[in-house]
Amino acid sequence: MKKILIFGVAGNMGGYLAEYFLQHCGPDFEIIGVDRIEHPTVSKMIKTIIMDINNEEDYKKLPDKDVYAVIDMVGPMPSKMIGYNPIVYVNTNVLGSYKVFDYAVRVNADRILYAKSFADILRRGETQLVLHVDDEPDFDYGDQHAVYTVTQNAAKDLLRCVHEYYKIKTFTFRLPHIYLWNSDDKYNVDGAPRKMMHRIIIDNAIAGDPIEVWGDYTRQKDMVYIKDLCQMFYKASMVDRETGYYNVGTGIGIPLLEQIEGIRDVFGTTRKSELIFCPDKPNAPRYIMDIKEAVEELGYEPKYSYLDMLEDMRKERELGRF
Ligand SMILES: NC(=O)c1ccc[n+]([C@@H]2O[C@H](COP(=O)([O-])OP(=O)(O)OC[C@H]3O[C@@H](n4cnc5c(N)ncnc54)[C@H](O)[C@@H]3O)[C@@H](O)[C@H]2O)c1
Repeated sequence: MKKILIFGVAGNMGGYLAEYFLQHCGPDFEIIGVDRIEHPTVSKMIKTIIMDINNEEDYKKLPDKDVYAVIDMVGPMPSKMIGYNPIVYVNTNVLGSYKVFDYAVRVNADRILYAKSFADILRRGETQLVLHVDDEPDFDYGDQHAVYTVTQNAAKDLLRCVHEYYKIKTFTFRLPHIYLWNSDDKYNVDGAPRKMMHRIIIDNAIAGDPIEVWGDYTRQKDMVYIKDLCQMFYKASMVDRETGYYNVGTGIGIPLLEQIEGIRDVFGTTRKSELIFCPDKPNAPRYIMDIKEAVEELGYEPKYSYLDMLEDMRKERELGRF
């Protein structure tokens, strides 16, 4: 059987990806997870190999034949970091990722998929709204996200070297925030945990409490659902191409007011939340991902409208799997 290895399988996105691949790959493929920790739901679906990608010795735990694809989703993020320890980004995003790529080459894998953030171009959204695959990086080198951004871009470039030198197929994805349901409603800002804004709004909608609408409510954001990201990764795993670089997204911007009304209507009960407009509070980021390369080269077609996504998140919340 051809093996597909998902590194970082116990993270936010890993379980969804494992499930999608199990549902779509068919009987010729075995899906195997790799992580430092086990996720109880994921472990029921697939085998997880416990290892640290920074530890050379641990690579002996991995299969050495019949590996078809290696998917690297390990990259540590500022939203998960407590305090500020940028050496973790250098070690894991650069050295650790290269070790994963090198393993894939060694075992003659057909292809490597790598997930990185759009933090390198997010700021461009303020002036151009639509973010393109070939936009040059534009970010603040003094920000706590900078080392993360630089190291993920280094890994992307290293993957290109690996592709050019060894002729292995490679696919890199640039991710904005990926919406999904997870039992953890927090992320870290400047190294300290904070409840995510959309989870505050969801909890207020469920309770029927007032919801604040911050800043300019017409600002648009591309709200992409994890299950559409899974579709893109799956298509890149099966496509007959040598390489690719793709923006993850829907190509559609949802204005803030529509985002909040959607949450209020999908998660709310009989007591409908009142909306309180706070134009003087800070604006949310704005951006739309240009997905034309993924559409043309992979046949990617986003399936989840914004409201479909919220409905599905509500179901996942009830299931409580992740
Ligand atoms: N979730 C998002 O919205 C988002 C946005 C932009 C970019 N990304 C990128 O996508 C990838 C996956 O995101 P996620 O949200 O699932 O991340 P996550 O932090 O939830 O998951 C990462 C997983 O990698 C594992 N891991 C960390 N260091 C490891 C090591 N040294 N060896 C083995 N395993 C290790 C962790 O245990 C964790 O389960 C990351 O590279 C991230 O930078 C995610």
